[in-house]
Amino acid sequence: MKIISDIQELRDHLRGQNRASFVPTMGNLHEGHLSLMRLARQHGDPVVASIFVNRLQFGPNEDFDSYPRTMQADIDKLEKEGVYILFAPTERDLYPQPQEYRVDPPQQLGDILEGEFRPGFFKGVCTVVLKLFSCVQPKVAVFGKKDYQQLMIIRQMAKQFALPVDIIPAETIRAEDGLALSSRNGYLSTAERAEAPALQRLLNEVRSQVLNLNERNVEALTTIEKNAVAQLAKRGWSPDYIAIRQQSDLAPTSNENLQAGEPLVILTAAKLGKTRLIDNLEI
Ligand code: PAF
Repeated sequence: MKIISDIQELRDHLRGQNRASFVPTMGNLHEGHLSLMRLARQHGDPVVASIFVNRLQFGPNEDFDSYPRTMQADIDKLEKEGVYILFAPTERDLYPQPQEYRVDPPQQLGDILEGEFRPGFFKGVCTVVLKLFSCVQPKVAVFGKKDYQQLMIIRQMAKQFALPVDIIPAETIRAEDGLALSSRNGYLSTAERAEAPALQRLLNEVRSQVLNLNERNVEALTTIEKNAVAQLAKRGWSPDYIAIRQQSDLAPTSNENLQAGEPLVILTAAKLGKTRLIDNLEI
């Protein structure tokens, strides 16, 4: 595997490749990331991965400095997966000047749910992803459904800017006890790690409650959401949100849409101790 940090060198290496398949990451790779690499291999060749902890998507009080950086272990894993190029730019490579031009996703998608609790997060994500796309120029790029809102926002960005890249969604990979794999799981203490799967169990409960409703209406969904938040808080979590939304645009749904059979998704973010976990489940 070739490890490249310089944008020009990356372009030289990829010249003439028009089927490249790309997986952007922030490193600290786990089985979830590796499943994205495998999916990428099915959709294009060569597979290019990137590792870049993107300062622009972290808030002032978030974990940019302490975000786990495990480059050598990551390289070993990517080599085993047959990744052709690892693009691992430094901040100076990717942001040689302050990044003054940014991609601002529309409020109705970028400022809700994660965007409400992490202001500017999606602006930072879209800006770096657009820049990485411009460096790699992939034919396809793979993003995990674990970051459901991120996947949707990037898809919309690619569509609205007519980017010549297909966005491929990848299923969430979970530990045996149901906890969605995430680099931030490493922050959990032993006791918190034992409690963490309760989040996915709750999502499953919420899903069953929705499926068992005699009649789906907004009021009933709101009650289910409220009860789920209370249940999580009772277990000692600090929930940011548990929201049942429309799959199509993540907006709160209406009775009319519910009657028309609108597909729904449950999204959640909650803190366990100091660790903020997110997860989701389609209905
Ligand atoms: O999902 C992530 O790891 C990051 O948000 C991404 C897409 C690599 C952008 O920094």
